[in-house]
Amino acid sequence: MGDNTSQQETMRNYYRWHAKVYDATRWSFLFGREDLLRHLPIAGNLQQTLLEVGCGTGHNLRWLAKHHPHLQLAGVEVSPDMFAQTSKAMAHYSRRVQLFEQAYGITSLKLTQKPDFVLFSYALTMFNPGWEAAIEQAWQDLKPGGRIAVVDFHDTPGGAFRWWMGKNHVRMDGHLLPFLQSKFRTEFLEIRPAWLGLWQYFLFVGEKA
Ligand SMILES: C[S@@+](CC[C@H](N)C(=O)[O-])C[C@H]1O[C@@H](n2cnc3c(N)ncnc32)[C@H](O)[C@@H]1O
Repeated sequence: MGDNTSQQETMRNYYRWHAKVYDATRWSFLFGREDLLRHLPIAGNLQQTLLEVGCGTGHNLRWLAKHHPHLQLAGVEVSPDMFAQTSKAMAHYSRRVQLFEQAYGITSLKLTQKPDFVLFSYALTMFNPGWEAAIEQAWQDLKPGGRIAVVDFHDTPGGAFRWWMGKNHVRMDGHLLPFLQSKFRTEFLEIRPAWLGLWQYFLFVGEKA
């Protein structure tokens, strides 16, 4: 993955303030996160590993740690302010969680084992530029037969809303799904409306065939 310094800098700046209000506000529009986690074919007794890219405040890692006591977890996060929150949230589970404060794909992660799952939850639409490279990197990182799991904004019929999301560094024009489906065998896909159709979001699980 290329060295997208400006994308990383934008994220660090944006989340310097947003990290403080993230968990209090995002429940109202980041839909489908738990639903996607429930769709993952996580084995109850095997030692599997899940890596979340752009793990934010640790919302998903916390849920996974609580619901899957055998799952090894890893998270990578570029914003120091978000990273500080994940570290705090995951302190209780530190024996089975590895956290990396760095941009994804620049230097390889020192994971104890290759992941069975790579999760992107409302992260890929903020990789601008770099979303194709991040998906390619996930393909490289996954075990053969491993799964990529993505929940994210899909598209909107409203130009003004697309513009507003762009101002918040989110690209929303249906660009992710065709590429995901070209790289991974689709195992689960749902496109759902949000806020009476103001936008659509999607849940995708794909296998590295
Ligand atoms: C909208 S938040 C989603 C956080 C979390 N996954 C969730 O579902 O609540 C997107 C996160 O991706 C992180 N991010 C963006 N670009 C990144 C990059 N190149 N490498 C690692 N993390 C990145 C941001 O800093 C931010 O914390």
